[in-house]
Amino acid sequence: MGQSKVGMIIGIAVVLLCGSHSAVRPVKKGEPTTALLGAFAKEIILLQNELTERQERRIEGMKFVSGKLSGRKVVVAWTGVGKVNAAMTTTLLIEHYRPQKVIFTGIAGGLNPELSLGDIVIGEKAAHHDMGTYWPEGFTAKGVRNPFTGWENPIFFEADERLLELAERAAGQVKFKTLKTRSGVKTPKVIKGTIVTGDVFVASEDKCAELRKSFKADAVEMEGAAVAQICFQQKVGCLVIRSISDKADEKAREDMGMFHEIAAINSSALVVEIVGLLDSAPAVEKK
Ligand code: ADE
Repeated sequence: MGQSKVGMIIGIAVVLLCGSHSAVRPVKKGEPTTALLGAFAKEIILLQNELTERQERRIEGMKFVSGKLSGRKVVVAWTGVGKVNAAMTTTLLIEHYRPQKVIFTGIAGGLNPELSLGDIVIGEKAAHHDMGTYWPEGFTAKGVRNPFTGWENPIFFEADERLLELAERAAGQVKFKTLKTRSGVKTPKVIKGTIVTGDVFVASEDKCAELRKSFKADAVEMEGAAVAQICFQQKVGCLVIRSISDKADEKAREDMGMFHEIAAINSSALVVEIVGLLDSAPAVEKK
């Protein structure tokens, strides 16, 4: 029997075992909630400090802070570093707050040579760079089977279109902090791009080249695709935004220490701006 037939049979079996998974996730009645997540406490404190009507709640020991940001209902949580922590926090959050959208904000290593420290990548898509098979000839990426539907997940999880549109608009109007870099003072540039995620901190030019070649990735980090996968499987719109704190090379740890703070400030400033635009009318559709 061919591999694809085996895959199809497994898929059908999983669907039968799991039952059907409804096409649209039910959202809590009333005003929709937007979830804002970040891997480091610094990134999250910046957002929590902006909240009014603040309410704290512990779920399974994790802290969730809800409130209003620019008049919009939000819940903010710190995931911790890595894919497992990110997936755990996202799942708890979706279960208990039923958000309509999830935005992840934080820092990343820049892979695209056009990007400088402090620049921002709005993730059009996110992929796990460490999920697949290591063959004798090298690595091939592959999505795992979605346990709810039995179908294989895509390698790239696409961002929510509305959030993507708002992020682009927000980037044009937000006032970013300038950075003092080795080559002088600069204002961050914002691009749309591909973000790859793995449970490793990348500080190697060889690995950068590989990620660039295999995924055409612009930035590498340790949580985005895990959050995007949970959102994909739970049918919640998601966007990952990353500010470049280092170039994922041998200076990565040193650079991250120096640029983390400013990168986090700018990434969360963009998120605040997006939340402020959530009620705005959608852009006119292109013909
Ligand atoms: N987050 C920030 N910089 C990173 C890097 N170089 N690798 C993985 N995650 C990161």
